[in-house]
This record gives sequence, structure tokens and C-alpha cells, in this order.
Amino acid sequence: MDYIRDAWYVASWSHEIGDQPVRITIMSEDIVLFRSNGEVITAMEDRCPHRSLPLSKGKVLNNSIQCGYHGMTFGLDGNCIRIPGQNIIPDSAYVRTYPIHEEYNIIWIWMGDKKKANTKDIFKLPQFDDPTWKPHQGDALYIKSNYLNVAENLVDPAHVSFVHPTTLGNPESEDVKVEVDTSGDVITAWRWIRDAPPVGFFQSFGNFSGNVDRWHYYYLYMPSIAVIDFGSAPRHLRITDEERHKGVRVFAIHLLTPVSETECIDRWMHLRNIQIEDDQVGDSMDAMFRVAFSEDKEILEAIQEEELRPRTRNPVRLAIDKAPNIYRLRVRKLAASQQDYIEN
Ligand code: FES
Ligand SMILES: [Fe+2]
Repeated sequence: MDYIRDAWYVASWSHEIGDQPVRITIMSEDIVLFRSNGEVITAMEDRCPHRSLPLSKGKVLNNSIQCGYHGMTFGLDGNCIRIPGQNIIPDSAYVRTYPIHEEYNIIWIWMGDKKKANTKDIFKLPQFDDPTWKPHQGDALYIKSNYLNVAENLVDPAHVSFVHPTTLGNPESEDVKVEVDTSGDVITAWRWIRDAPPVGFFQSFGNFSGNVDRWHYYYLYMPSIAVIDFGSAPRHLRITDEERHKGVRVFAIHLLTPVSETECIDRWMHLRNIQIEDDQVGDSMDAMFRVAFSEDKEILEAIQEEELRPRTRNPVRLAIDKAPNIYRLRVRKLAASQQDYIEN
């Protein structure tokens, strides 16, 4: 599997981690997360170097975690500070730790070379700090699919007409061409569906009386974060790309964490530019997104199962595959450039 190690991934939503140790898995590495003294978050290899009991089965103490088997205790830097019954602590008594940063109520983890970890590289969206936008955290959706297929789905506007007929798509968009821009670091795919009835999502949140112009912009950030900017505006406004703010506009953000070669977690959240005072609106949008994303999950899990079976022919290439193909290429290159990664 092509993994990009030198990157910040979402380890967890902030509220999921307290003073009890929590085990997570990223790129097949088991990691324990905990807060000591109610605040500082630590991420460590979840395996005691003595007999391999996961440290998540142990106990969080002040500024340390104690193994639940024989009580070896590790400080927040991963070094052993106590071995019950003996005074000498061997050099090999340590566990790996991971750089962590908490921002936007998200716990970010750096999976690569520690020397390269820079919190400035954490994904940012200007709207996160803009008071005219309302961010709303959604779920952590576990998908039995490799993260690459899920990321591809998030730069693929064409599937929406077929996979999400009651929420995000309708038949009017079936034959509308997808535009793609791969000239920058962010891969963009988009299309406008002009002068068509609003899709289910905007019937619920737009209060539109007639036809609308609808857009769907997919921005894929390396290695696996997608921002989907979608919205609708009354047809008579005839808005342009630059005037999307005049419509009902929503950003659906997907933060993908690779769990293993066949699993990932899609933590999704959204921001909206309407009814930002009304929390109920965020909850109602959640409900609609849950419908849509469970449709993606079903498709992606079925594909993963097929991909595990022997393949007898190559896939057919379609015009709509341009953005996903470029994404794969970039991932492969980046992964290859980081292949000499060895953690000490
Ligand atoms: S397994 Fe952890 S102290 Fe023995
Ligand atoms: Fe989808």
C-alpha cells in the first residue's frame, strides 16, 4: 500500500480522548492516545517493550502511563521511568512517541520523520476562523476500504448523480461534463448544473421556489483530505464561479486516516454560510450527510471486496478518471520518495 508518512493525519476528534487510554490504528501501527493531567495529549506505540501488552490496557498516571501487566511505567517522552522490582532501566526500555497537535477540536498526529513535523503544515481552511461561517463536526465513519479508493471518490463529482439520488444528486447532472484542474498542489474537479430543480439537500436547506444553478467543487489535498464546496443559488441570479458566496454554500470536509491496507476512517465535518446561529440546522445537515456517506461506504466496501479477488483484466479508463488518476500518480511518487523511512 502506498502510504505517505510525512503528513499530519487526524488521530481523533478532541472530545474522544480523555484520561483513559484509547487505542487507535494508523497505517497498521497501533497507537495509544491519552491526556495526562486532563490536558497534554500523548501518542505512543501501543505495545509494551517487555511482553507486548498494549499500553492501552494499562493506567494513565501523572505524566506517565503504566503497563497493565508488570507495571513498567513510561514518561510522556516514551522513556521508561520505572520498572517495579529493579533499579536498572535498560536503554531498550522505551516506546516510540508521535508528534501531536490539537487544533479545530481535532487531534492531529504526525506519522513520519519527527524532524520534519511542523504544525504549520496542518490542513487549514480560512473559513474555519471566519465568523460568517459555522463549522459543525460530524462523525468518524469507519470504511472497510483502502484510503486511496475513498480519496478518489472525493474528487469524483460524477458519481453523485447515481450514488446519492435523494440527497446530493439528481438525474439532471448525469451527463454534465466534469472539469478538472491539476496544475497546482490541490487537485480540483468541478461542475455546474445550471437551471435544474434543487437536489434533496437544497430542497431541505435552500427554501428555493424554482430552478437553481448548482455547483460541486471537489478539492483534494495531499495526502488524503478533501473539501467539497457545493451549493445552489436561484437561477435568476446567474451566479459565476466567483459568486458562490451569494448562494447557499456548504463545505463538506473529509479527513481520511488510513487504518490498514483495507480500512480507513473518514472523519467528516461541514461548514455552512446560512443559519449559522441555529445549531439545529447543523444537526439536520448531519442527518442528510449520514444518508449520503453511508451510500459511499456501501459502494467503496463492495469495491474493496472485489479488489481482493483475482483480477483478470484491466479497468476501463473513462474521461471522468482524470483527477483520480493524477491523485494516484502523486501518491505513488510521494510514497516512493519516503520509502527509506526508518524510525529509531
Ligand atoms: S508486559 Fe508490560 S511490564 Fe510486562
Ligand atoms: Fe459520494
